[in-house]
Amino acid sequence: MITMEKIVSLCKRRGFIFPSSDIYGGFAAIYDYGPYGVELANAIKREWWKTMVQLRDDIVGLDSAIFMHPKIWEASGHVSGFSDPLVECKDCHTRSRVDHLLEEIGVEADEKMSEEEINKIFLENKEKLKCPNCGRKNFTEAKKFNLLVKSNLGNFTDDWDKKPVYLRGETCQGIYVNYRNVLDSTRVRIPFGIAQIGKAFRNEITARQFLFRTREFDQMEMQYFVHPDKEMDEYEKLRKARWQYYLDLGLKKEHLKWNKHKNLVFYAKAAYDIDYKFPFGFSELEGVHARGNYDLSQHTKFSGKDLSYVDSKTGEKYIPHIIESSVGVGRTVFAVLTEAYTEEKVGKEIRLVMKFPKKLAPVKVAIFPLLRNKPKLVKKAKEIFNDLKTDFVCEFDDNGNIGKRYRRQDEIGTVVGITADFQTLDDNTVTMRDRDTMKQIRVKIPELKDVVQRIIKGENFLELGKLVK
Ligand code: GAP
Repeated sequence: MITMEKIVSLCKRRGFIFPSSDIYGGFAAIYDYGPYGVELANAIKREWWKTMVQLRDDIVGLDSAIFMHPKIWEASGHVSGFSDPLVECKDCHTRSRVDHLLEEIGVEADEKMSEEEINKIFLENKEKLKCPNCGRKNFTEAKKFNLLVKSNLGNFTDDWDKKPVYLRGETCQGIYVNYRNVLDSTRVRIPFGIAQIGKAFRNEITARQFLFRTREFDQMEMQYFVHPDKEMDEYEKLRKARWQYYLDLGLKKEHLKWNKHKNLVFYAKAAYDIDYKFPFGFSELEGVHARGNYDLSQHTKFSGKDLSYVDSKTGEKYIPHIIESSVGVGRTVFAVLTEAYTEEKVGKEIRLVMKFPKKLAPVKVAIFPLLRNKPKLVKKAKEIFNDLKTDFVCEFDDNGNIGKRYRRQDEIGTVVGITADFQTLDDNTVTMRDRDTMKQIRVKIPELKDVVQRIIKGENFLELGKLVK
């Protein structure tokens, strides 16, 4: 059984994810990426960027600022409508999302419902609901709580609370407001997409799901601008591409499913989420939505700038429709960690090994001298380390016995371990150990870079060297 506790504990123990401000007791729903976590997150961002931008001739990248004109959040509807329904326990003051409490007793509610609608359902079911912290049933009424995080910037005003700027609640607004700039400064023509990776901030009410729901997180979003008549065709293409992307990322088909939204916002044409089987059950990993022309129409209205598109061949003028792919880096990291987590019985012991897809593994190669007190072995291992680290993320480890070193590397998912032993001094070969099978082959030192590269690309380990008996 892969539990949340096991993953959270491994993440802290092995330097993947730490609670933010840990020495001060943590800071709710915020996490820091440790040495291996940041390598994993970077590998995930690289894969996403490669799929979305590098391999596509019709999608370009962007990095817009976190702070934007406050009017943008009015135009987008976030100031008036970006809110979750909240109740507070009158006894222990724990705040909970009403739709989540209702979900636990099998009653459907939607965070997008109005305060009246949600309160009606809440009151009908109040007797069955318990505070998740103290177990009592003493709730306030349901209120909508805005998720935008307010800030102040510059010294424009003393009453910044009344005229705030916001930390962006989603990255895609930076894409919408740069649509015209990109169109005017590059060679893209409809249909085309703009992709970006960056921070987003939300005042989330519940803070109990590790990386799944945090108040500061990275989003990877791609907005695709299309002719209105092509919206649904392009939408289906995007859905297929996104499903394949997760399979290529190593998530198993049976751990993924489509979740069709039952209540569409008024402007949306279609909305599906790709759900992943997290340790607490299937939940949203990514949203793939057909958004009509809502976004560009709203920004046209609020900015006064015409954001319509003129087809240079036909002369047709229209406001492009948008289809969107949106996913959090943290949720992807969490899914990849869950998928990789493996406990295996080896003899009488349980081996814990993170079977990351090789392209995502935070460390590709660990290099060991067999014994730390033999200077010739240490020198040889250091030479190999210095050579390989120019191409791969490597670790040098001479601490403890070799079994212990392997266990540590298994827990961080290092793809291969290379040991310089006494035979190395004779014939310039090393043993290379495969993380997944624990089999060992003998490889010539000058061939190491090529062999590691081929293993990362997915070639069969055992065919790349001489099997050690
Ligand atoms: N632009 C559309 C948008 O932001 P969303 O469903 O609110 O839609 C998209 O968010 C994705 O961002 C989610 O599918 C999830 O992967 C990630 N995400 C949203 N809120 C998050 C949070 N509080 N913590 C971590 N990831 C989050």
